[in-house]
Amino acid sequence: MIRRNFLQAGLGLPLASLGLTAGLGGCSDSGNMYLDGNYGPVSVESTAMDLEVTGKIPDELVGRFLRNGPNPPADVSRGAYHWFTGRGMVHGLRIINGKAEWYRNRYVGSDAGISPNTSVFGHAGRTIAIVESGGPPVNLSYDIAPIGVNTSLGGGFSAHPNLDPDTGKLHVMCYDWAKLRDHVRYVVIDETGELESEMEIPLPGMPMIHNMSLTENYVVIYDLPVTLSFLALGTGSDFPFRWDNDYEARVGLLPRQGQASDIIWSSLTQNYSYHPMNAFEDASGNVVVDIVRYDKMFDTDTQGPFGDSRPRLERWTVNPGTRKVSEQVVDERAQEFPRCHPDLNSKGYKFGYTVAVSETGSFPGIYKHNMNTGTAWQFDFGPGRSGAEPVFVPREGASEEDDGYLMTYVYDANKDKSDLIILDAMDLSRPALAQIHLPTRVPYGFHGNWISDAMVPVG
Ligand SMILES: [Fe+2]
Repeated sequence: MIRRNFLQAGLGLPLASLGLTAGLGGCSDSGNMYLDGNYGPVSVESTAMDLEVTGKIPDELVGRFLRNGPNPPADVSRGAYHWFTGRGMVHGLRIINGKAEWYRNRYVGSDAGISPNTSVFGHAGRTIAIVESGGPPVNLSYDIAPIGVNTSLGGGFSAHPNLDPDTGKLHVMCYDWAKLRDHVRYVVIDETGELESEMEIPLPGMPMIHNMSLTENYVVIYDLPVTLSFLALGTGSDFPFRWDNDYEARVGLLPRQGQASDIIWSSLTQNYSYHPMNAFEDASGNVVVDIVRYDKMFDTDTQGPFGDSRPRLERWTVNPGTRKVSEQVVDERAQEFPRCHPDLNSKGYKFGYTVAVSETGSFPGIYKHNMNTGTAWQFDFGPGRSGAEPVFVPREGASEEDDGYLMTYVYDANKDKSDLIILDAMDLSRPALAQIHLPTRVPYGFHGNWISDAMVPVG
């Protein structure tokens, strides 16, 4: 039976866990690396108060670090399970007065089976869990309990709303593969959380569109060759998208005030990409996209994203006049989950951050990139330790772009538990400023954010 509620493609992606012996993309009848090691679910919802801390939590951090990810039932079919389809669980940690006040993990799902599993963010005073092309967003309480569907945003949403830092509005590329198979919806959510506008964008098929970008003058659309597979649907796969080499990879530039007929489409070499680090316009009017790119996706590995090719960091320069695209490798090393300074989304910037992806599928460190010079730095989590998406949080009053913190959950196989670590983003040669020790592990998952109390107040 097809799961209606899932397209939880988060960006997620974690690879195989530490200590895993199976290679990437292992998908024999009984094998499924996305259920083993720290990919495996935790069995209970838990609450812990006054957590132990090594180091010092910066006093200015007052809020919650939340992250969403899949947590399938223990009896899920190993052969059929796809990592993007597990039931959503949010892991949250509350920080105030330099202390870690609580940790909680809670299912997002309701009795109706709605279970966004891909990201969680704050907007218009609400905490919202989301998924791509599946059920509607779900509002969470401050304590991360689900408190109902977000009726303003509707179903068939996205994992990656794109915040315009100048307006506070969200730009979102939405689709619902079960209903709409020839277009996607581009919607704008205003600063109060209400739908401001929407536009249908016709497409030649039903691609998996995980993300989008903004620049000063354009909305950037990624139309890439992973498409709805009726063969997969017909054979009962949990996840019905597959590599489609006959579908042309394109990038589209929609003028911000334009219509769908105004989109400037340019061809790309065949690839799939979940996550742009950022996009902006250069002095010549070209659109520059920094993005994590795979050469192939869901071709032979139909259980998760890592078996078909390795993710590398690229810079695409799109000339809107000639419709030509230059694709240049920035860093060949495997990496994912790019982030940058949130106030520089859609603008020229210098620094980006990713998590390294090892040959065995762990996440052994963080890379910091100077995108202007190509210089990169690295923070290693240490033996047996494996991280996740690095979330950049600007320091109050900062005058430098990289003056801030990097926050991420780190799984420690030595104790089978996780920590939340806080790094000085300016200097990755320093040890972690703080490590908050959790009583349980946080399974590999997808996306999250630091949600300050100024953004979403206690209550
Ligand atoms: Fe994602």
